[in-house]
Amino acid sequence: HGIFTYDPGFLSTASCNSNITFIDGDEGLLYYRGYPIEQLAQHCDFMEVSYLLIHGNLPTLEEKATFTNTITHHTMLHDQLTNIFRGFRRDAHPMAVMVGVIGSMSAFYHDAMDIKDAKNREMSIYRLIAKVPTVAAWSFKYNEGQPFTYPQNRFNYAENFLHMMFSTPCEEYVPNPVIAKALDRILILHADHEQNASTSTVRLAGSSGANPFACIAAGVASLWGPAHGGANEAVLKMLEEIGDASNIDKFIKRAKDKSDTFRLMGFGHRVYKNIDPRATMMRQTCYEVLEELGLGDDPLFKVAMELERIALEDEYFISKRLYPNVDFYSGIVLRAIGIPTNMFTAIFALARTVGWTAQWNEMISDPEAKIGRPRQLYTGAVRRDIVPIEKR
Ligand code: CMC
Repeated sequence: HGIFTYDPGFLSTASCNSNITFIDGDEGLLYYRGYPIEQLAQHCDFMEVSYLLIHGNLPTLEEKATFTNTITHHTMLHDQLTNIFRGFRRDAHPMAVMVGVIGSMSAFYHDAMDIKDAKNREMSIYRLIAKVPTVAAWSFKYNEGQPFTYPQNRFNYAENFLHMMFSTPCEEYVPNPVIAKALDRILILHADHEQNASTSTVRLAGSSGANPFACIAAGVASLWGPAHGGANEAVLKMLEEIGDASNIDKFIKRAKDKSDTFRLMGFGHRVYKNIDPRATMMRQTCYEVLEELGLGDDPLFKVAMELERIALEDEYFISKRLYPNVDFYSGIVLRAIGIPTNMFTAIFALARTVGWTAQWNEMISDPEAKIGRPRQLYTGAVRRDIVPIEKR
């Protein structure tokens, strides 16, 4: 079998050096560029965190103003991209539309191919951070059969996204500050998470020198699955299916049954063997948003809290160290804000675009980076000779 290490799922393979994000899965710690996620979520907004992830340090007031201004002024999409949207079926999943539209943007930004030039890379990063929310919101508008809503420069990042989602030509959506803040926090918590499946996909795609817009489209595709970013959508579907606290035991039993493929969505993590720190903060945000909206008695939230309580006391989940992850509560918050379920992963994608682009940039700037090229252990037929077709 040669000299290769067999490591399916890369459980023990470090694919790169990185100085962006640190996770201690046993302790349940997450740091971006050395700052604990709790402090970032409490004291910074998404633009500051984006600046930090991309540039390595928190911005000064002036740096933040310049950065925010640049992002704000790149939120428009090329007008021809509306044709790409219109090529999709009306009921296309927003993630499918995002893969297609973001991928097609590689044809609009040829200068992005000059990845050796740091300024050019920075421009692609800014364009992606600015435009991906517009792509996400427009994929929803297209589903709804409503006209596309143009970004508005007077709003902050989270407010602008809510505006593009919910304003119509007849009625302007006025963002509620508590809701905009909650969305901003969701974006901070999802912004980066070291070498997860989608980030590794972006790095692998980018390692060949491919166009960054195409690489981010590859990341969106990888994020879509229910074991990764699709979990927030799957959690909500599961909670709706459970419906009432009296049904929880039945679902817990199914999750423990080896012959049943059902898993408790929003539980477990490859790296965290303790509570996901993002889940703790998400639960807190969940309380705040439901209270603000007068939804304190939300039955789904009650089912979620009861499910969490029961699972955390269950021997199966304790022994396998399965704890709630970030997506366990994010779906309830998004639903309370009025975001449709099929947009949950799209919102994850727009937040993670910051992490993806920061990691892509780090890789391209790394003199030790090589094209990603895993090996395999061949398990197929040994050498054999062709038998003429009429004799097979
Ligand atoms: N419900 C029931 N059993 C589970 C669950 C679950 N949610 N997660 C893991 N297990 C069991 C699994 O059956 C296995 O048991 P055994 O050792 O007896 O075969 C053991 O725990 C280890 O699971 P694994 O699948 O080998 O672990 P992994 O590291 O490959 O998978 C995971 C991690 C997140 C894919 C998995 O825990 C899972 O499918 N969770 C549900 C989906 C989910 O919430 N995903 C969101 C992840 S956080 C957001 C993000 O970063 O994308």
